[in-house]
Amino acid sequence: MRVAVVGAGYVGLTSAVCLAHLGHDVRCADIDADRVARLTKGEAPIHEAGLPELLAAGLASGRLRFVVGASDAATGADVVFLCVQTPQGADGAADLTFVEQVAREIAPVLGPEAVVVNKSTVPVGTTRLVERVLSEAGVVHDGVAVASNPEFLREGQAIHDFLNPDRIVIGCDRPEAAGVLTELYSGLRAPVLVTDPASAEMIKYAANAFLATKVSFINAIANLCEVVDADVREVALGMGYDARIGFQFLKAGPGYGGSCFPKDVAALLHTSRAAGYPFELLAGVEDVNRAQRERIVDKIRRAAGGALAEVPVAVWGLTFKADTDDLRESPALAICERLLTEGARVRAFDPAAGEQAAERVPGVEICADAYAAAEGAGVIALLTEWDEFRWLDYERIATLVDRPAIVDARNLLDPPAMRRLGFAYSAVGRR
Ligand code: UDX
Repeated sequence: MRVAVVGAGYVGLTSAVCLAHLGHDVRCADIDADRVARLTKGEAPIHEAGLPELLAAGLASGRLRFVVGASDAATGADVVFLCVQTPQGADGAADLTFVEQVAREIAPVLGPEAVVVNKSTVPVGTTRLVERVLSEAGVVHDGVAVASNPEFLREGQAIHDFLNPDRIVIGCDRPEAAGVLTELYSGLRAPVLVTDPASAEMIKYAANAFLATKVSFINAIANLCEVVDADVREVALGMGYDARIGFQFLKAGPGYGGSCFPKDVAALLHTSRAAGYPFELLAGVEDVNRAQRERIVDKIRRAAGGALAEVPVAVWGLTFKADTDDLRESPALAICERLLTEGARVRAFDPAAGEQAAERVPGVEICADAYAAAEGAGVIALLTEWDEFRWLDYERIATLVDRPAIVDARNLLDPPAMRRLGFAYSAVGRR
């Protein structure tokens, strides 16, 4: 099939390379000419496992091309994916300016039976909105359909998730258009749920809000574990064996971050307020998440002896989770900001984020590796669960620091081993 993907960000680029990999003829558009030029040369602009390989293969096969501008990509396409950003507005609502702009731009070039698909996470009702914008912009063919097809891609595993989905959700009232999308994904082995657009849009929000709820729930349990002298890792294990609960998303830590959970939770709260339904449970999820960062700052302050002014703090990990270079809504960055406010000297290392972190939080000194960050530290704060932090030479680190104290906000390290080496060790929800 001929596919247009508008937007070469995380979602758009992943979709484009994977659809080309599945044998489709894909044109991926972006407004950033420089990004398009780099992609055309095979340079992957984001840190994503498997992306460089699929990008190279798609370009070599001729099935994947990058163009500037949506209308160029959409001309003659059977399916047009809208994968543009939907930033969070001041009131928590998703800002649909880019979606509307693209819809207006592609309206004149859409073929007689084109299917326009919302893949960006958009509020309930956006499929209808795009239908309206297209018809106002003069779409001439009755056969043009609009569908919702939410993505469930985790950063760092986006290619894997696209090619091995748990399910494919298609929200569309027009059976022939739903059939086109089912056909588009026929190379994937996954259940396909065809439903109405509003339900498809709600599935995405409900799924992310539920996962965020799991994270805040286990963080709240962890906070209780600290009081009753229980170990949250044991508790999560015991809960996870219950097939109704499962093991995933029960890791206690500094709270959820990233480009999706905070934004989607805020947007669903906004939707619920607008609908006159006070979704108190979800408001609580957000509250727990915000407070969790403060609890980590409290632990770091305690580990430093009660005050942070002038204390050199080694921060390990800045991204919102491991295996990504994404700093958006990262709890680690928020914690760094708080440490700086209290007068700490923050020396940080992250395996992927590097210098871009320094621009986001001025005042943080970026170090070449975890050892350099630890030199002279009054306390080490491990904030992102990069696997390499498990395998550091902790005997050497004990000799580098000024005071041997570690706050392990991801429960990554072995407490007895740390204590044997003389570290004052504290974690989240563990004895
Ligand atoms: C998420 C969803 O998983 C994905 O389906 C969606 O479409 C986009 O949002 P992503 O933001 O890449 O993906 O991250 P994810 O791996 O889901 O983690 C989200 C946040 O929760 C991270 O900050 C992570 O550190 C945190 N988390 C996750 C925990 O604190 N504990 C856990 O057990 C799991």
